[in-house]
Amino acid sequence: MITRDEVIAALDRVLDPELHRSIVALGMVGSVEVEGSRVAITIKLTVAGCPLKAEIQRRVSEAVAVLPGVEGVQVGLDTMTDEERAGVRDSIIGGPRKESPFDADSRTKVILVASGKGGVGKSSVTCNLAVAMAEAGHSVGLLDADVYGYSIPRMMGADRQPVMMDDLIIPVESHGVRLMSIGFMTADDNPVIWRGPMLHKALQSFVTEVFWDEPDVLLVDLPPGTGDVHLSLAQLLPGAHVVVVTTPQLTAQRVARRAAAMADRVELPVAGVIENMSWFIAPDTGARYEVFAGGGGQALATDLGVPLLGQVPLESDVARAGDDGLPVVAARPDSAAAKELQQIAANVADAVGLARATG
Ligand SMILES: Nc1ncnc2c1ncn2[C@@H]1O[C@H](COP(=O)(O)OP(=O)(O)OP(=O)(O)O)[C@@H](O)[C@H]1O
Ligand SMILES: [Mg+2]
Repeated sequence: MITRDEVIAALDRVLDPELHRSIVALGMVGSVEVEGSRVAITIKLTVAGCPLKAEIQRRVSEAVAVLPGVEGVQVGLDTMTDEERAGVRDSIIGGPRKESPFDADSRTKVILVASGKGGVGKSSVTCNLAVAMAEAGHSVGLLDADVYGYSIPRMMGADRQPVMMDDLIIPVESHGVRLMSIGFMTADDNPVIWRGPMLHKALQSFVTEVFWDEPDVLLVDLPPGTGDVHLSLAQLLPGAHVVVVTTPQLTAQRVARRAAAMADRVELPVAGVIENMSWFIAPDTGARYEVFAGGGGQALATDLGVPLLGQVPLESDVARAGDDGLPVVAARPDSAAAKELQQIAANVADAVGLARATG
């Protein structure tokens, strides 16, 4: 015979998919009724129409169905009252809100991914590093700071709005990465026009009003070039490291040097350089082509006195996976580009002093 306590113990091991806390501790378990071998549970969702309700229902019924003596599980859904939701919000924040969750005492390694010019593959590289780090066992946040040309939602296959808990924004989780992008907030592809102070406020709320929950690492996809966004973020994320993405062309390298000069001006250390689109292997003959000759990645790294963290080949899988919303390290982990990106993720982790994941 199954007891109510045994059911609750099993539910205690079920985590909310975005809050990463036990659903029992979050107060999401309403009623639990046991009748012989049949169990009926009511789960209280934090918000009505919670986008993850099917996933929560699945986790609950799986956790209970495996208990010996259980032959049927029924999971009903309800919604929390405003008061209950406020309680959850307070319990997950655990104390008064800080000015920035990523201040000097934060355990999170913050990595700003910069490039001098557009189109060098910065967002593609950032998404792949995030997924590779999550697969390596780190908890990972990814902040899309490219407020004009955001592309992270599409590349990560995430298109729903984040859940709000009062004034707290719960990041959207995709491929094991916690995401925030202005793209989640705009209804369509209308360009967003920001004036300086508004821009700073938007970035500030992305840093302070999002429940990042102290991840091991926060990757930030910067807009191309050097400008207001960089200045704002340097203020909001004082302990950040900068990684510069460039292509092999020497002109690109010269432009990328400006991104490094910007890091210098705001006194953030540059952890290294990643060269993208380094070569192309013809799939039919295996011949290697240096499409953009120049050795720009190594030249820039030498110039800055930082390591070249790796080179990513030009591969149609990288572009295709990005368009499909599944980064290549997840879609085609055995491809040459994916292997390079996994190695680069490990190199970046070492360069910023991210401890090896233990879990
Ligand atoms: N290694 C690669 N192999 C093939 N295609 C790539 C590679 N890296 C990036 N791409 C493609 O190149 C294009 C530009 O990449 P991406 O959007 O990541 O660059 P970006 O530097 O973030 O650009 P933007 O300046 O617009 O933000 C995309 O279509 C992407 O799929
Ligand atoms: Mg981009």
